Amino acid sequence: GMAERATFTSRRVLPDAPFLAAANGRTPSHRPVWFMRQAGRSLPEYRKIRAGIGMLESCFDPALVSEITMQPVRRHGVDAAILFSDIVVPLKAAGIDLDIVAGTGPVVANPVRSIGDVAALPRLVPEEVGAVAEAVRLLTVELGSTPLIGFAGAPFTLASYLVEGGPSRNHERTKALMHSDPKTWHALLSTLADTTITFLQAQLRAGVDAVQLFDSWAGALSLAEYREFVLPHSERVFAEIQSAGVPRIHFGVGTGELLGAMGEAGADVVGVDWRIPLDVAAHRVGPGKALQGNLDPSVLFAGPAAVEKQVRRIVAEADAAMASGTTGHIFNLGHGVLPDTDPGVLTAVVELVHSL
Ligand code: CP3
Repeated sequence: GMAERATFTSRRVLPDAPFLAAANGRTPSHRPVWFMRQAGRSLPEYRKIRAGIGMLESCFDPALVSEITMQPVRRHGVDAAILFSDIVVPLKAAGIDLDIVAGTGPVVANPVRSIGDVAALPRLVPEEVGAVAEAVRLLTVELGSTPLIGFAGAPFTLASYLVEGGPSRNHERTKALMHSDPKTWHALLSTLADTTITFLQAQLRAGVDAVQLFDSWAGALSLAEYREFVLPHSERVFAEIQSAGVPRIHFGVGTGELLGAMGEAGADVVGVDWRIPLDVAAHRVGPGKALQGNLDPSVLFAGPAAVEKQVRRIVAEADAAMASGTTGHIFNLGHGVLPDTDPGVLTAVVELVHSL
């Protein structure tokens, strides 16, 4: 409605940004490129500024968030910034006892496994992520004409951390809950969808230009499981932020079999990992959406000739996809930058993609 639209009017108008053109199905002036985890341990300036400050602590310091978000934009000349934060930030902000352990990932003190555990989960209120909103406001000034991507974890991937209590290879406790107690499962995902919506709306009101929903571990599911236990909740997230009018990206790892459903959830752009070519992904997603991806982050260790060969292949496959109904291509990796990556190689990829 009107009131809701009015709350989104602080957004900048960036008609010439290649990233937004490609995401919206218009023709960009050059092929846009950014990297998942572009802010982080691959950058010496990041390691320096983060020294002695915990990961989660840094996510609630607006000036630090702004500076870390800017670092890869300055260094690589990428076509979009991604807010420096984490998928567990809204859970921490709501009061859930968790931490991010270096080299491991999120660890949850009291795993969620029963209907009582779900009922006791705190709901996020926007004020609790006020520091994140403040960082977004600082960045909309600092970034000039470079778009800012906000993000959140999708309900399934957040649930996996809460149910397992930490990172998991097989997600066995998560799948056990899903199959043995669907009522508790859906209550959990519904609660997490509420938190994700609140977190994204806070970022949108503060001025992010696009959002990415990370369902990083959805690739652990069959298509049938995804449709029954996950899709309705991610669909609600996308529907609730539609009125902001910004591009919505949906990404997961190992999701070759789920790409069609992940598009159906309400995304304008579907992220693809490196396991299938973009022209094949385009058939699975169907026409009318853009694709993002899909260089294997490990290829960045293979030397310039190998990197160039793979970048050219991906550009050709994306062009084939766009000749048959895909509306745009945003160059990216198939998953996040690995910590030991030479940042010079990332800069070279940006230059190469822009030159092709
Ligand atoms: O992409 C960016 O540059 C923005 C920053 C960003 C971070 N986390 C910062 C971070 C984003 C988009 C995320 C999302 C995130 N967090 C996801 C989804 C994306 C994906 O990788 O699939 C997931 C699954 C998480 C959970 C998480 N947080 C993991 C698995 C880890 C890595 C643990 C480790 O140390 O290897 C984190 C910590 C984390 N989040 C770091 C960064 C830069 C590293 C911690 C540090 O620098 O001290």
